[in-house]
Amino acid sequence: VLCLTRPTDPRWVELAMLDLDAVLVDHAHCEMKAATNALSLAARSPDHPRVVRALLDLAEEEIRHYRAVLDELDRRGVRLGTPPPDEYAAEVRKLASSSARRRSADDALVDRLLVGALIEARSCERFRLLADALAKRSDALSSFYEDLFAAEARHFRTFVDLAIDASGDEEAVRARLRELARAEGELCDRLGVRGTVHG
Ligand SMILES: [Fe+2]
Ligand SMILES: [Fe+2]
Repeated sequence: VLCLTRPTDPRWVELAMLDLDAVLVDHAHCEMKAATNALSLAARSPDHPRVVRALLDLAEEEIRHYRAVLDELDRRGVRLGTPPPDEYAAEVRKLASSSARRRSADDALVDRLLVGALIEARSCERFRLLADALAKRSDALSSFYEDLFAAEARHFRTFVDLAIDASGDEEAVRARLRELARAEGELCDRLGVRGTVHG
């Protein structure tokens, strides 16, 4: 799917379906983190006005997603509570920050945008799995994940386009994305399978 080098372990969706409430709680926190990450990237991009505008649009959309997941939790009578640990997000961000390749502020921005693209790609892949598993059970939540699948696929492309915009060198950006995608795949192997959005 998209740029991912490792498909999600099929056991993941089985685990997720065992406790959808827990997945939704984690998912709500992920949407909030996606919004705050987009804003923090916008704040780091003062020299790239098009990037800033696009990230603001993205943040607004992620806030709408956050609200939609909160509404679903309310319907189920589930409290949001504190987020479960998100080792994936912490580790995948390190892929950008630990890179020896970074030479300029723009390289750092490109890496952070590409890490954003990878997180979107992984969410997108997993929302597809959830939508299909829910459809098999005729669960109405399937169409909710179907819509989010499409949104995350679009966000993946937005992040890649923004990285190209910030860098001006499409070939270099695509090569770097392949490199980071390999590292993300290894990370997923290392972390194993848990019943959270990225676990
Ligand atoms: Fe989202
Ligand atoms: Fe997204």
